[in-house]
Amino acid sequence: MAESELVVPRHVGFIMDGNGRWAKKRGMPRNYGHDKGADVIEEVVGACRDLGVKTVSLYAFSTENWSRPKDEVDKIFELLHKFLKRYTHKLIRDKIRLIISGDLEAIPEDLKNECLSLIERTKDFPEFSLNIAINYGSRAEIVRAVNRLIDGHFTSVTEKDIERELYTSTIPDIDLVVRTSGEQRLSNFFMWQCAYAELYFTDVLWPDFHKEELKKAIEWFSGRKRRFGGI
Ligand code: IPE
Ligand code: IPE
Ligand code: MG
Repeated sequence: MAESELVVPRHVGFIMDGNGRWAKKRGMPRNYGHDKGADVIEEVVGACRDLGVKTVSLYAFSTENWSRPKDEVDKIFELLHKFLKRYTHKLIRDKIRLIISGDLEAIPEDLKNECLSLIERTKDFPEFSLNIAINYGSRAEIVRAVNRLIDGHFTSVTEKDIERELYTSTIPDIDLVVRTSGEQRLSNFFMWQCAYAELYFTDVLWPDFHKEELKKAIEWFSGRKRRFGGI
């Protein structure tokens, strides 16, 4: 498909799945897969930006991922910290606004502080947003939003009221979800924001998801007829 025929989604969400299986196939520990998975993030985010996508969301750690062995959980947080440190230069140079969705109170203090500092440093970049979901779950997010409204003494709420209290209040809904590794489910990923998203599933494991794979997903999206309930 020619570049001019592409319909580029405004907001793409990635459920970066399959790191463990990728490592297992190579006889390596699961954490090796997370390492390699972190390595492809920069390429994929950069390619989205080059194509004209305005917002990218990444599922890095779910509220359900706490059920994994402590060693794996610790390693994922460590990796995220390393990733953010390595990525800082590019975030500033390319004017990428960082948003973090999720409860940062429960994650390691150094990672939390790194996130807060980068959010502050990049908050005025208007062009492109990178939303990373860390200790995130849709259900927890919606419950949090409702509790914040209760604290504000609301007695009844509208969709707009809830949207204002979501982590994603400053970015548009997700247009395209890409999930790697062959699983066909949302696993608590931005369920409110995905109400009308197109869902793209690929058997490719996340560490193997490169630019060419992204291109395939966007070509597929370009062929979808989005009706939003209309005809
Ligand atoms: C996704 O890869 C990364 C995280 C959940 C942090 P997995 O670790 O879920 O890999 P599989 O699904 O076990 O292969
Ligand atoms: C979803 O992947 C969470 C992330 C990619 C961070 P999981 O591997 O945790 O999802 P399930 O358990 O297969 O649904
Ligand atoms: Mg998985």
